[in-house]
Order: sequence, then C-alpha cells, then structure tokens
Amino acid sequence: MRTVHLATPDDFEGWRDAARALALGRVPAEDVVWHAGDGPADLFGDEAVMDAPADPNFTVPRAFVPLARDAICNRDPERFALLYALLLRLRENPRLIDDHADPLLRRIDELAKAVRRDVHKMRAFLRFRELTEDGDTRFVAWFEPEHHIVRVNAAFFVRRFSTMRWSILTPELSIHWDGEHLAEGPPARREDAPEGDPLEETWKTYYASIFNPARVKIGAMLKEMPKKYWKNMPETALVPQLIAGAQAREAGMIATADTKQEIGGNSRAAWEALREEAAACTRCPLHGPATQTVFGEGPVDARLMFVGEQPGDNEDLAGKPFIGPAGQMFDRALAQAGIDRGTVYVTNAVKHFKFEPRGKRRIHAKPGGPEIDACRWWIEQERILIRPPLTVALGATAARSLLGKVVTISGARGRAHSLADGGEGWVTVHPSYLLRIPDKVKADEEYARFVEDLRAAGERLATLAA
Ligand code: URA
Repeated sequence: MRTVHLATPDDFEGWRDAARALALGRVPAEDVVWHAGDGPADLFGDEAVMDAPADPNFTVPRAFVPLARDAICNRDPERFALLYALLLRLRENPRLIDDHADPLLRRIDELAKAVRRDVHKMRAFLRFRELTEDGDTRFVAWFEPEHHIVRVNAAFFVRRFSTMRWSILTPELSIHWDGEHLAEGPPARREDAPEGDPLEETWKTYYASIFNPARVKIGAMLKEMPKKYWKNMPETALVPQLIAGAQAREAGMIATADTKQEIGGNSRAAWEALREEAAACTRCPLHGPATQTVFGEGPVDARLMFVGEQPGDNEDLAGKPFIGPAGQMFDRALAQAGIDRGTVYVTNAVKHFKFEPRGKRRIHAKPGGPEIDACRWWIEQERILIRPPLTVALGATAARSLLGKVVTISGARGRAHSLADGGEGWVTVHPSYLLRIPDKVKADEEYARFVEDLRAAGERLATLAA
C-alpha cells in the first residue's frame, strides 16, 4: 500500500507528480491511499514513488488536465483516488475521455462541475466591505465556499480589483492583496470580517441597471440569490429603496431611447455580471447533466433579439448559442435576409442543454413548461438590459417563453405581438424544424419562408426606428 500526502486539499501539481510516478510504476489504484493536509508536499510509503524516472512519453488526453484541475478542488475525499483510477484507464484507452456515459468519467465530470459552479458563486456573491485602518483603506470580504476554490479563484480577484487593497477571509484560509503581492494567511472566522454595507461598484451598476427599467420582479430576484449569501449582500438591504425608486419611475415609464441611453454605458458590465451569475444557475434540474449555462450573445445595444429553444450538443460543449447545424442554417438565412449576426442578440428560452443519453450520444429532449418558466428569469433580465424594440421567437418553445403562453406557430406567425415590456414580438419556425423536413422541395419552400420572416423582421425594425 502506498500513501501519498499532498500539501493542500487543492494541490493539483502534487497529485499530478505523484499520479504520474505511480502510473509509471504500474501501481494499481486500490493500492494507493491519498491524503491532503497542510504539511509540505511529500510522499511516504513503501517506496519513494516520486523517484520513479520521468518518462517524456507520458501523455494523457488534453481534456483530462483541466478536468482534473477542477475536480481536485472538490471536497469529496475520494477525488484523488477517482482521478488516479481514471488516469490509469486513460493510459489504456485515451478515447475514454470522450465517453461521457462512462460512470467513472461521469462522476468526475460532476465533481468538476460542482467546483466550477462554486467558483462562479464566489465571483458572483462575494461582497467587499470597506475598512479604514490608520488612514489606509482595505476592502474585506467574508465567504464560505463549498469546495476548495479560494486559491484557484485568487487570480480572478487580483485581475478584477488590481488597484485595491483587499482581503478575502474564509474558514479554510485567507488571501490578501496589497496592490502588488498576493499573500496567504490562516483560516478566519466570520467575526474577523467587518459588518457594513458599502457596495462594490460592478454590483452597484448591475443592480441599479436592472432596477432602472422598473419592471423587475423583486421577489424573483431575491429568490435567485441563494439565501446563504443574503447576509453578505448589502443590496438586499437596499431593496426597499430600490422598490420605491422603481415604483416612482414606473408611473410614467415607457422604455424610451433616453432611458436606454442612460443605462447604456453601464449595460456591458451589468450584462457580464448577469452572465456570470447565470453560469451558477441551479433554478431547475437541467444544470446537473449539462456541461454549462449557455448564455445569450451579441451587443448589449442590439435592437433585434432572437430567441431559440435551448442549446444543443455543440452549444453545450462550446458555451455559445446557435453554432451547431441549426445555428449554421440560421446564419445562412440571416445573411440572405440582409441581417448581420454581429448586430443582433441571440439567446435561448432555456439555457441548459436537455438531453437523454443514448449510448455515447446525447439526444436532444424538449424542455418542459417548468424548465421554460424557471429559465424565464434569465431572459427577462437579458431583455431588461438590452430592451430590443423587436424580438423574434424561433419555434414554439421560444414563443411560449416570450409570449408567456402556449401558441402554435401557424397561429402566431406573421403578425406582431405586444410584449409586456413594451417591445414587439414576432414568431417564426425554428431552424432545426427546417433541418428535419425530409422532402427536399418542401424543405426549400419552408426555408424560403423562414428567410422571408427574417427579412420582414429587419424591415419592421427599420419602420419602428423611423
Ligand atoms: N437550437 C436552439 O434553439 N438554440 C441553440 O443555441 C442551438 C440550437
């Protein structure tokens, strides 16, 4: 039996070196015990496994490294052993890395995904308070991560708040930035962080932006923030004020160009904050099997928005909407209709890929009402920021999300629908419907109709502007 002691619970390099040496020594997974503590990185056991000769030919599939880096940070005590078992199997069969039906790979995928969610939560929900000591200002935040993510997240906070002096205190360790150096300190307690409520700028911008248009659903917004984080979030204390302001504005409020102008400068930061928050979304069970949230894409001042159904297999892997076969058909049709995709905002009613595993394949499954309803929160936030005068729903799921009721394409197509936020909605078919039409003549006819719908939307937009 070999025992490997790693320096820290997130010690990827230590695990990698030990695992490589063990694998070269053909040590079976069941013969290794992994420990991660606070001591220096070293190895004990029957043999000094780190002394095994380095093998320049030791290779692993490229996708394994980021997966292992993420999974290592999971709190699951079995993570090191599971990763080592996977490493041994990948040495035999590198193509296993693509077999997402494999139970071991699936379990490790889940570990990594939970870590990525936690990383996003820390970025989205951590709040700094200002602390003045002997005339010096430092920003201090308290955060309780679920996994060992503080070190891996440190670079993000350094980049984002490079000019501030700040400390992040957690029950596992603290990190401190003095404007030039990052230092690590011991675990902290909640009482070590100051109470108070100064708002960190990006978040002030974000919340001000989403409240500005006045139609925001405050209850829904609070529901979206996990309760655990409320006590750290000063903007929850700000809600009554924001509601009062919003109601006052709502009295005569129609979304005018001026209003849009007013928040326009802030919209990109607000949109980025929103996308970041959506990355950690767990509002419905689809986040579990999916790879990631696929958020909308396009300029925040786009005047035309397209809403699809949900990401497909390609989109789920790439994290971008409409890039697979349906997306390529959509691009072609847009170009023929004289619309530049670079100028429009493209998003989906449901932001996680819903599928059924069939062997190695993931077969698209239609999202249901509860999933569309759970995800409506995000599209409403996107619409609040972008405020497109015209939105085109591609297919019945998108139409249901946009119009808030079930409609048929034949019944809803070809006319304007007034949307609750003052914009205009149009409905057409989904490009993947066109891809599924077996008869070539019919497929061509339907495609031409689709292009005409897009062209009509572009022309209508020009009329609205005039
Ligand atoms: N289908 C959709 O509805 N959306 C995508 O992003 C891709 C395919």
